[in-house]
Amino acid sequence: AGEKGKASERSFVMIKPDGVSRQLVGKIITRFEERGYKLVAVKSLTPSPALAKEHYIDLASRPFYKGLVDYITSGTPVVAMVWEGKDVIRQGRRIVGATNPQESDPGSVRGQYAVSVGRNLIHASDSFDSASKEIELWFAESELAEYKPTTWDWV
Ligand code: PPS
Repeated sequence: AGEKGKASERSFVMIKPDGVSRQLVGKIITRFEERGYKLVAVKSLTPSPALAKEHYIDLASRPFYKGLVDYITSGTPVVAMVWEGKDVIRQGRRIVGATNPQESDPGSVRGQYAVSVGRNLIHASDSFDSASKEIELWFAESELAEYKPTTWDWV
């Protein structure tokens, strides 16, 4: 575990309130499942301000920080997930698409469904370090499943 590209690599992925309110949860999950990634944990919740602030702590000095935290905590839930599989951090970012949907590849989630950076539907960890931090922040160890998908006969 822990090395880039290992089958056990994990990423934290969060469908933001706009993705939930636009009822895109199933379509987004399907992209990860059909690519061959394993759903290790999933829960729907309205994050507390403390959780949202900590998640986005690196952006604390940015002008959009408060608005982003307010939005994430507004009451429409997010869907927090952990996905596992080979190169899932980098590939997850490709599935999600560029931060600004106006730059996102049309084949990505944001490129297909979003036009605005403030409503870009989804978050995915941007590095191994962020993934580890975010998974620990959002999930207890006991919430992370261990099983082998039947499609994973190459592992
Ligand atoms: S930056 O500018 O490079 O630091 O930003 P970036 O790393 O690309 O984005 C970090 C997260 O901030 C979100 N973001 C915004 N949210 C709301 N409004 C505005 N204007 C805005 N700009 C950036 C961006 O979506 C990233 O969030 P996540 O949830 O991690 O994708």
